[in-house]
Amino acid sequence: MSDNRDIIVKNLSYTYPDGTPALKDVCFEITKGENVALVGQNGAGKSTLLLHLNGVIENNNGCITIVGKQLDKKNVPDIRKKVGVVFQDPDDQLFMSTVFDDVAFGPINMGFSEETVKERVKKSLQKVGLSGFEERCPHHLSFGEKKRISVATVLSMTPDILLLDEPTSNLDPGGRRNIIETLKTLDSTKIIASHDIESLLEICDNAILMDKGRVVATGRSEDILTDIELLNSHGLEAPSIVKMLGDDVIPLLRDNFDSSQIKRHEKTIKKAISKKRKKEIFCK
Ligand SMILES: Nc1ncnc2c1ncn2[C@@H]1O[C@H](COP(=O)(O)OP(=O)(O)O)[C@@H](O)[C@H]1O
Ligand SMILES: [Mg+2]
Repeated sequence: MSDNRDIIVKNLSYTYPDGTPALKDVCFEITKGENVALVGQNGAGKSTLLLHLNGVIENNNGCITIVGKQLDKKNVPDIRKKVGVVFQDPDDQLFMSTVFDDVAFGPINMGFSEETVKERVKKSLQKVGLSGFEERCPHHLSFGEKKRISVATVLSMTPDILLLDEPTSNLDPGGRRNIIETLKTLDSTKIIASHDIESLLEICDNAILMDKGRVVATGRSEDILTDIELLNSHGLEAPSIVKMLGDDVIPLLRDNFDSSQIKRHEKTIKKAISKKRKKEIFCK
């Protein structure tokens, strides 16, 4: 029987060396090609969980299986070829003096020929919409450009699984839109940790909600991320568009909706609101 599960996490717990508990008995499974939203208030354990999935933090507890292989000390280098992490802060990801060298770093380490490396760098920069940036200095780029180059440094290794930690945080609307559109074109399995619920509703099929190191809810993102009470009870807030439209917001968001263009969608929004009001009146 073929197993289409890319990630299996069983009973994963973790306490930092200083005694801070960060993960408690975390269990979930993710199917190949799935886009998963990872949400939870600050300190919920999202980053700690992502860092476990490619062995940056060693799991001394529980069991992690990545594309059929159980993660252990010995196979971390192999797992890292399969799982790419985009850190929250691009300055943690970019350390070379040119964009080319940063994006080429992974493929060079994987032992590819010079020609293949060049091809991979070119393709990865194309995917993030920054062709021609090869000779630029990463540290002189705008924050949004740095974020996109960080994504390219991971894409150049063609990972099966992409883990993104707060990919849209601190971006201006244009930079945010760029990252969202890039992520939507990528076929790999993705886990996106973020507080930007609107973007998660646009990109992700499923969601995992964490609180104080535990997984407290999993399910379709249109159920979890539009459940205002559930979000509130775990220290999160639904975006106003969700408060206004409930799960009627999904078709809008998935149809390349951009909340700065509310005017263009006025008719659909009014219809959704009147439907909601009718429901409220007749259900009393
Ligand atoms: N390097 C560290 N040393 C000690 N505690 C840490 C470290 N990194 C994170 N923590 C703690 O672990 C918990 C989970 O943090 P984190 O995974 O960063 O949460 P999130 O990404 O959801 O904000 C928090 O209590 C945080 O203070
Ligand atoms: Mg974090």
